[in-house]
Amino acid sequence: MPVSITAIRHGFAGDVTGIDCAKPLSPAVVADIEAGMDQYAVLVFRDQPLTDEEQLRFTLHFGVIEKGGSGVGRIHFRTDLEARSLGGGIGDFSNIDGSGKPLSPASRAYMFKLADRLWHSDSSFKAVPAKYSLLSGRAIPSWGGATEFADMRAAYDALDERTKREVEDLVCRHSNMYSREKIGFNDLSDAERIAFKPVRQRLVRRHPVTGRKSLFLSSHAGVIEGMSVPDARMFLHDLTEFATQERFVYSHTWRLNDLVVWDNRTTMHRGRRFDPSEARDVRQTRLAGDGITIEQAE
Ligand SMILES: [Fe+2]
Repeated sequence: MPVSITAIRHGFAGDVTGIDCAKPLSPAVVADIEAGMDQYAVLVFRDQPLTDEEQLRFTLHFGVIEKGGSGVGRIHFRTDLEARSLGGGIGDFSNIDGSGKPLSPASRAYMFKLADRLWHSDSSFKAVPAKYSLLSGRAIPSWGGATEFADMRAAYDALDERTKREVEDLVCRHSNMYSREKIGFNDLSDAERIAFKPVRQRLVRRHPVTGRKSLFLSSHAGVIEGMSVPDARMFLHDLTEFATQERFVYSHTWRLNDLVVWDNRTTMHRGRRFDPSEARDVRQTRLAGDGITIEQAE
């Protein structure tokens, strides 16, 4: 069956058919998917029941797993009791604890994860930010829990010329601390504060294949170099509000066994509310990016 990609929105997000993600892919199919990612930035593969091993194998067709595991990793925000044991390279983005129950809203892991509901780009707090994230829906709550994506290329293109000139050479600092701070979560250990040392990122970046410019926004951004913090935060807030207007957004309503892949270099995303007493088992693999967006200080 040939690979077919149908646009979900105009030029943003594609629905892929004709692929069994559990099977090894031919180089031609890998190239089709990469071309689809470059065009649509988000791809949806329906009806793909995957084991962790199959998800990992599919992911590795497109790059190398990000060092330090997917996301911030269990060590930073889940205590032993709050952590499930999943295989290497698989990020636990579920709300399920070590005993198989939904995390209590009073738990630290629950509160830490809440900031994923702010618009962000995965691993923008790392000097080399992520390429693709791949999220597999293994258990889906009965209400809510959508993942929304915003097209940062279209948002950049739609900026007025004066704003484009203003943002062109700006450099932000990103940290997990800034995103947690925004929801009032300041309960970080000294070790976490060291691990979350801010990194520098360009505010405008260029896609390495298509050459298209995009806004590199993320809730992890908390500082713009050369600006006061309030001025920077207001500007980032305004840009984020602009870039996440409905016309730039695709909202993904999850079905069991969906696999959704997005390019963090050209999109932001956020999770949406769901009933915390229901299990939401979503597992993520994350690919390392191709390089820094700008030199780090020191
Ligand atoms: Fe994320």
